[in-house]
Amino acid sequence: MKKIAVFTSGGDAPGMNACIRSIVRGATYHGVEVFGIVRGYNGMIKGDIIPLNSQSVSNIIQRGGTILKSARSKEFTTTQGREKAYKQLQERGIEGLIAIGGNGTFTGAEIFYNEYKIPTVGAPGTIDNDLFGTDYTIGFDTAVNTALDAIDKIRDTADSHDRVFFIEVMGRDSGYIAIQCGIAGGAEAVMIPENLTPVSEIVNILEKGIAKEKSSSIVIVAEGDEEGNAQKVAQKIKGLMSAEMDIRVTTLGHIQRGGVPTAYDRILASRLGLGALEGLLRGEKNVMAGVVNNQLVYTPFHDTITKKKPVSEDLIRMVEILSS
Ligand code: F6P
Repeated sequence: MKKIAVFTSGGDAPGMNACIRSIVRGATYHGVEVFGIVRGYNGMIKGDIIPLNSQSVSNIIQRGGTILKSARSKEFTTTQGREKAYKQLQERGIEGLIAIGGNGTFTGAEIFYNEYKIPTVGAPGTIDNDLFGTDYTIGFDTAVNTALDAIDKIRDTADSHDRVFFIEVMGRDSGYIAIQCGIAGGAEAVMIPENLTPVSEIVNILEKGIAKEKSSSIVIVAEGDEEGNAQKVAQKIKGLMSAEMDIRVTTLGHIQRGGVPTAYDRILASRLGLGALEGLLRGEKNVMAGVVNNQLVYTPFHDTITKKKPVSEDLIRMVEILSS
């Protein structure tokens, strides 16, 4: 394989740049020509494809976002869109692809591979940490630390005003960000989609706190929780509390997707970028590179998107014990 291309797709994640750098520098080391596809699958369809070299990725390891930009492509979900994309790659003689992204990215990559058989290897880049086949995804650690910084600040004002805060964190259908923020932020309760906590139980926890003269509390709500988002949960709880409580809601939102990647994310991204590249050059295809129990492994795209990665029962139990 002498010509490959890399792209980022779906929600951006801190560490994507470190991953691009690792792929480009690795390709240069192995004597492989490397291109960058701009704006994910949309750029593939339009032929927005640029040559990359060692210098193109200088000074980016510390930057959030993605120098290749990202998009969620509607057109790539159509057969016509994918045919256009294939022609663009063929015209340039691109023989292999590295896709950095999450669920949606790998769903597209699997379909594309099945249709056109261009060897493709993925690197997991999403703050959600919801991909089977890797213990951690690129961007998750930074997102948790960004959210935690905000939670610590909210705790200060919650304490000064004797208030209860419901803080909503991202994660789509996954509670990974929420559970880690809950433990590290010393939250009174965490609501995640993987473990249904009825609002009546949260009322219990808060009222027990009041009985123990706890004057402020933090409840972390994963955006995909079955009881609804933080606004809805707070509304339901207001109606059920017997004691008077001053309740506020904060939605952290896209702040969690930006910022300087942590050392952990930069190292993970570098490892997975090189792992994806060297896997591709060795003949891996239709798989994602991941790190499981500190070992580099390759998991079929199909499994990464269809198999569930459960949130550890230990962590859920820990929140209950430590917040009481
Ligand atoms: O997948 C990353 C993520 O940030 C999710 O946590 C969130 O649900 C979603 O993307 C938001 O997507 P968008 O930026 O398109 O609104």
